[in-house]
Amino acid sequence: MIQDDPRHRTPIGASPWVERFAGLVPPAGSVADIACGGGRHGRLFLDRGHPVLFADRDVAGVADLAGRPEMEILQADFEGGAPWPLAGRHFAGVVVTNYLWRPILPRIIELVGPGGVLLYETFARGNEAFGRPSNPDFLLKPGELFEAVRGKLVVLAYAQRVVDAPRPAVIQHIAAQRAGGATA
Ligand SMILES: C[S@@+](CC[C@H](N)C(=O)[O-])C[C@H]1O[C@@H](n2cnc3c(N)ncnc32)[C@H](O)[C@@H]1O
Repeated sequence: MIQDDPRHRTPIGASPWVERFAGLVPPAGSVADIACGGGRHGRLFLDRGHPVLFADRDVAGVADLAGRPEMEILQADFEGGAPWPLAGRHFAGVVVTNYLWRPILPRIIELVGPGGVLLYETFARGNEAFGRPSNPDFLLKPGELFEAVRGKLVVLAYAQRVVDAPRPAVIQHIAAQRAGGATA
């Protein structure tokens, strides 16, 4: 882990982007909260009646949920070079916020099953003017999420913008859907 790593800082409350598009995830379909931290988005989907996979290298933030039948906790280091732990899995909803590790971006997109929705939001270039993350490894390039899903998912909404809350930042976010019938 490098020093300029802001990825343990987790805002309280769901992202307005995820809340806005949560209803696009097919009802009762399974949801993956990737690099979940405290699981604020997985919890949102649990409350909406979805089974949820919470995945992170540090799952202490969701330990209180252990044992609930409609959820699964996966402790995995996505950056350590181990085989991708979610190979072959598909979800009706895939949520990633405030996390970027470019080598697994194609793997994350593969997780979206037919009819499923990807909701991805993280920091983008320009954020260095406001503070961390400032390392380009953790900042999306202009249009990067849009380009990442091109030819794979249908873009429903996409933006890069400066936000004021929970603190000033440059973020990029996307809501995109895979064509086809609903994934359970
Ligand atoms: C800033 S937090 C974001 C948490 C959550 N997505 C949110 O927005 O509330 C980044 C998360 O990425 C996780 N993470 C960082 N490096 C990881 C790795 N190599 N493998 C798996 N998870 C990792 C951290 O443990 C942390 O929970």
